Amino acid sequence: MEWFEDEALWADFTDVLFSAERAAEAETRAASSPLLRVAPGTRVLDLGCGPGTYTVPLARRGAEVTGVDLSAALLDRASTAASEAGTEVRLVRADMREFAEADRFDLVISMYTSFGLFDDHEENMRVLRNARTCLAPGGRLLIDLYGKEVMARDGARPKILDVEGGTLIVRGTVLDDWTRFRDDFYLVRDGRVRQASIVHHLYSAVELKRMLAEAGFTGVECFGGFDAEPYDHRARRLIVRGVRA
Ligand SMILES: C[S@@+](CC[C@H](N)C(=O)[O-])C[C@H]1O[C@@H](n2cnc3c(N)ncnc32)[C@H](O)[C@@H]1O
Repeated sequence: MEWFEDEALWADFTDVLFSAERAAEAETRAASSPLLRVAPGTRVLDLGCGPGTYTVPLARRGAEVTGVDLSAALLDRASTAASEAGTEVRLVRADMREFAEADRFDLVISMYTSFGLFDDHEENMRVLRNARTCLAPGGRLLIDLYGKEVMARDGARPKILDVEGGTLIVRGTVLDDWTRFRDDFYLVRDGRVRQASIVHHLYSAVELKRMLAEAGFTGVECFGGFDAEPYDHRARRLIVRGVRA
């Protein structure tokens, strides 16, 4: 089993990875980010939608959103979040390496490092090609992740965080000559320690731009945050956007 197929990981760490703060941040970004602007009826595909962190706020702004995820438990949470927000979303349990509905969407998003999860480079390329297939001509792909340059600048220092009822320790390790990154989580709660690890590719802006170009995207550009800031020494995220010609 690959780490992202482990439902227990998402169940154990759900309130840490998908905190109320992150949900509020997504709501603010959906309302104000020029990169996430949607008009009523914009057809959005949220790849690796998780508990609907962006699916639901974008639907609340009038977009027709489809969320795709492998985790049944997270899709249940997304469904509940949509009902509570009084909005409708379409949720599909599928592997992003397989999901491809041709010409169906105006915007495909991949948020919070939901891209680059597969060890095999070709499988990550397949996700990009599927995203291109899913887009109607002129549609856009937006990927938000933790860039290699940001990681190199900020360092992978261990973090100790207070979480509800316990403490979370996160230790990051750079792997394979800065190709991949592993986050080890240790959650101390109720006298127990639960451990989980997440491994993903670590892309520089240049690497990711090349990959989008290879998958057939044009007008590929990078941003350093959701206000469409440049990807420079102040960047907090690596956001790359490409257009399906
Ligand atoms: C870091 S979480 C981000 C979730 C969400 N985008 C957010 O912003 O909160 C990554 C998500 O990708 C999903 N995922 C992992 N592997 C997947 C796969 N092969 N196909 C579809 N979804 C997958 C996980 O279940 C998880 O919900």
